Amino acid sequence: MKHIFLIGMMGSGKSSTAVALAQRLQMPCEDLDTSIEHIGEQTVKQIFEDKGELHFRQLEKLALREAVKKSSRVIATGGGIILDQSNINLMKSAGTIVFLRTSLQMLLSRLQNTADRPLLGSDHPQVALEKIWHERASLYETAADLIADTDGKTADEVAGDIEGLLT
Ligand code: S3P
Repeated sequence: MKHIFLIGMMGSGKSSTAVALAQRLQMPCEDLDTSIEHIGEQTVKQIFEDKGELHFRQLEKLALREAVKKSSRVIATGGGIILDQSNINLMKSAGTIVFLRTSLQMLLSRLQNTADRPLLGSDHPQVALEKIWHERASLYETAADLIADTDGKTADEVAGDIEGLLT
């Protein structure tokens, strides 16, 4: 079996769904933001603050390239992984891409605490989130092999839906 990549907006539940799905499929699990923090030796927030988004995107690209070389796993990506077409191409060739689709309304209610989400800033996080959601919605749908809707579902329920879609 190849890798399973979870893509979607911040707050769509990629990390917790990846853990639940990996458990169900008896596969290892990797969170790309955590891998980036290891490579960059800083938190995601610090990387954004000290070195900027461009540098973060380079580390993200590197972390993805390292992850796909490993044994088959469930990989929770960061929300911006689809901004680089070469990342999408690599994921397509290395496994199955699953889009966790979450409504804007649900994301807004989940992302009340935006402290560790640098792209949302601190002044108008809701406006920032809305803008990103509109910019990316079609990118996620186009990149995805499978789509799992997450509104009103627990991570384990979403993982169960994905398990069903994969078989
Ligand atoms: C980002 C999402 C974050 C993290 C970084 C950038 C994005 O990951 O990679 O802050 O561009 O949407 P999560 O989607 O896990 O929050």
